[in-house]
Amino acid sequence: MKCMIVYLKLGLILGLLLSASVTVKASISQDGYSQCESTVKKWASSSIGSEVKDNKHALRDLLFFLHVPRTGGRTYFHCFLKKLYSKSQECPRSYDKLKFNPRKPNCQLLSTHDDYSMMSKLPKEKTSVVTILRNPIDRVFSTYEFSVEVAARFLIHPNLTSVARTEKMVRNKTSGASTLDIWPWKYLVPWMREDLFARRDARKHRGQSHIVTNNPYDMEDMLMPLHKYINDAIARDIVHNGATFQIAGLTNNSYFVESHHVRHCVIKYEILGEYVLEVAKKRLDDMLYVGLTEKHKESATKFASVVGAQVISQHTKSEQSKSDALAQGDQTEVSSLAKDEAARENMTAGKLMEAYESCIISLRNTQATRRVNSLKQISPANFTKEGRREVPEVLIQEIASLNKLDVQLYEYAEQKFMDQHNIYAEKRTSTISTSSYPNFYTSSSSTFMSYLAIFSCLLLLFIFFLFVNAKRTSKIKL
Ligand SMILES: *[C@@H]1O[C@H](CO)[C@@H](O)[C@H](O)[C@H]1NC(C)=O
Ligand SMILES: *[C@@H]1O[C@H](CO)[C@@H](O)[C@H](O)[C@H]1NC(C)=O
Ligand SMILES: *[C@@H]1O[C@H](CO)[C@@H](O)[C@H](O)[C@H]1NC(C)=O
Ligand SMILES: *[C@@H]1O[C@H](CO)[C@@H](O)[C@H](O)[C@H]1NC(C)=O
Ligand SMILES: *[C@@H]1O[C@H](CO)[C@@H](O)[C@H](O)[C@H]1NC(C)=O
Repeated sequence: MKCMIVYLKLGLILGLLLSASVTVKASISQDGYSQCESTVKKWASSSIGSEVKDNKHALRDLLFFLHVPRTGGRTYFHCFLKKLYSKSQECPRSYDKLKFNPRKPNCQLLSTHDDYSMMSKLPKEKTSVVTILRNPIDRVFSTYEFSVEVAARFLIHPNLTSVARTEKMVRNKTSGASTLDIWPWKYLVPWMREDLFARRDARKHRGQSHIVTNNPYDMEDMLMPLHKYINDAIARDIVHNGATFQIAGLTNNSYFVESHHVRHCVIKYEILGEYVLEVAKKRLDDMLYVGLTEKHKESATKFASVVGAQVISQHTKSEQSKSDALAQGDQTEVSSLAKDEAARENMTAGKLMEAYESCIISLRNTQATRRVNSLKQISPANFTKEGRREVPEVLIQEIASLNKLDVQLYEYAEQKFMDQHNIYAEKRTSTISTSSYPNFYTSSSSTFMSYLAIFSCLLLLFIFFLFVNAKRTSKIKL
């Protein structure tokens, strides 16, 4: 059954490649286009062909959390992953590729904004990937708002020279990563910051301010309006279709030199985006877990039962083998982290969920306070839910059109999520399920269905034999 599904998918992809090339050749026929087309095709077929065929529902040694910016991944990191993995199990943080250092070959958790091309640095067959997707319109709004929020923090300085000077000093003192080291903020924030300072200087020059609107998304005097933001080259390069590009491994932060050519081709010739979308969908299919920001509660529950439960049982197993090794006199590394790991060992999926719930409340409070304080700098501009509703429909349509790939990818993920959710709910109510076997929950729908099929076949055979035997014995008796 699995084979058939794989063949069907391959057929579909081939069909798509053929049809796309036919329709496009008719309309466009530049050299640039055909060169781009072959580049993108080559990339797509090599990307799709190189997947690990193993059971994708079982947690492998390394968990790679592919964190798409503004999807709420931070709460997963702080309130789930940090409770499941100790500091010593975390791979060196690689929120910026310049800092990535695969020095710890046996680390078990990697959480980063790096794109899928990161996999080229990791043991592929030992890595499980998880991610969260968000409605692309909301993600663009949130990206804009966060760019403004972080940039506005710097308005306490009199000018950009002063910002640069303090930054240098602070950088030298603290070793922790700042938002400005992290892709894509390291591009988006300085850009927005420069713009905010320029607008403030212009206001000072003019004297009286001319604010005639109370729409925070279009307050030219105070900040870059949303419609300007989304149409800038920087936004085209790193915001729009950002989730698809990140999952395809084609962001402007990619490890592959060729991917920059592919990305430029796809931005130039929109139709080539179909190839990227197919690769991204295939990647989602192969992930251990895909959450949705909008379905927050269900996503978190699913994360705890699919990922959390397996991490817990993985730890328990490794603890077991460690104590076995100790019992055999192999006292290589009597762990200084014993206490830490004992506490984690005590964790269950249910407790994890409880810890998560209280953790997100405090995290959200901190974030809200920070935002309010920062936005005071650009008052009367303030991002509120009511403000968002005032954004004209044409602008929303424009964002959707700039994010066509992300819109389609999100719909695909939504459908998958609903399907899995229904199966999960069925399994929960079915009599077979027992909570002590988390792996059972995570087995795919297709394996579940094939077990069911095999089971019913056996049952039929059994009944058939009973029937035949009964006939035979009755005949003999006669
Ligand atoms: C920037 O502000 C500082 C005060 O912190 C001032 O000394 C300096 O002259 C200013 N620079 C410019 C270019 O205005
Ligand atoms: C940064 O700190 C080092 C010592 O830790 C010092 O030598 C250097 O001059 C400092 N650089 C700046 C720009 O302050
Ligand atoms: C990534 O995007 C930023 C902003 O557009 C740009 O400054 C930077 O050069 C880009 N990097 C690459 C590798 O394209
Ligand atoms: C594990 O849980 C039990 C009961 O919930 C508690 O008594 C014990 O102290 C816990 N152990 C650790 C190491 O947290
Ligand atoms: C901005 O709006 C939030 C509510 O969404 C409010 O708590 C905050 O005080 C407002 N900030 C300003 C400066 O008006």
